Amino acid sequence: MAAHAARRPRVGGRGYGDRVSTAAFLLVLEGGEGAGKSTLAAGVVDWARSHGRAVTATREPGGTPLGERIRDLLLDRAGSPSPRAEALLYAADRAEHVAAVLRPALAAGELVVCDRFADSSVAYQGAGRTLDAAEVAGLSRWATGGLVPDLTVLLDLDPAVGLARAGRRGPADRLESESLEFHRRVREEFRALAAAEPGRYLVLDAAESPERLLAMVTGRLARTVAHPAAAAGPAVPVSPAVSASPGAPR
Ligand SMILES: Nc1ncnc2c1ncn2[C@@H]1O[C@H](COP(=O)(O)OP(=O)(O)OP(=O)(O)O)[C@@H](O)[C@H]1O
Ligand SMILES: [Mg+2]
Repeated sequence: MAAHAARRPRVGGRGYGDRVSTAAFLLVLEGGEGAGKSTLAAGVVDWARSHGRAVTATREPGGTPLGERIRDLLLDRAGSPSPRAEALLYAADRAEHVAAVLRPALAAGELVVCDRFADSSVAYQGAGRTLDAAEVAGLSRWATGGLVPDLTVLLDLDPAVGLARAGRRGPADRLESESLEFHRRVREEFRALAAAEPGRYLVLDAAESPERLLAMVTGRLARTVAHPAAAAGPAVPVSPAVSASPGAPR
């Protein structure tokens, strides 16, 4: 587990405030549309499993039956909830996700790889929709009971590039259809969040190849994540290949 974990209250197990196993690790992937989060998540999951690590791969919105229904509401181009209603829907999704998926997996000592988490709300509902960022962050803190990722990988990319990538995949969803200016504010907010807590973020240039991005993440995770018991020993070698599955969840 990351060294910073000792300084903050980790939450897990049945009751909020319980400590999780020292092997538990919450890795979050953040970034704008088409930045490569799902591709990288698939690569990290394959890498960790190939090292015998128990992994839960999940995403927001979604990740639970209720969450997948909320996801449909949120991404449907036909609907356009008001900004506060949208923020509350994301928070409801997150509360369910934390309770039903993240906490149980962390309590079991797993590596949890989560495609988007609380920072996406601050970036999209805060900076994007121009709600108060501190209020949006507070909503997530309440929804999660204060669960904080051990490491957040921010895939930083010019939104024009990310949107073009996402556009090649299919028709734009409701958020992808927002203006370039909206997506620029989102990018800047992600960067500001990372800059405020550099020890808890790994900021990567998402214009790099999937293979290099994966190597950078696994390099950072090798000791603590792949073989936590061997944290004091030599680093675990990085897998040479990426399995960037085209069918990865998005
Ligand atoms: N590092 C990369 N360089 C170039 N293309 C990439 C890279 N990573 C992913 N891609 C491609 O870009 C597209 C978007 O990738 P992916 O779905 O992983 O992004 P995402 O961040 O999960 O997107 P979304 O925000 O829509 O969920 C895919 O077609 C993927 O193959
Ligand atoms: Mg995705």
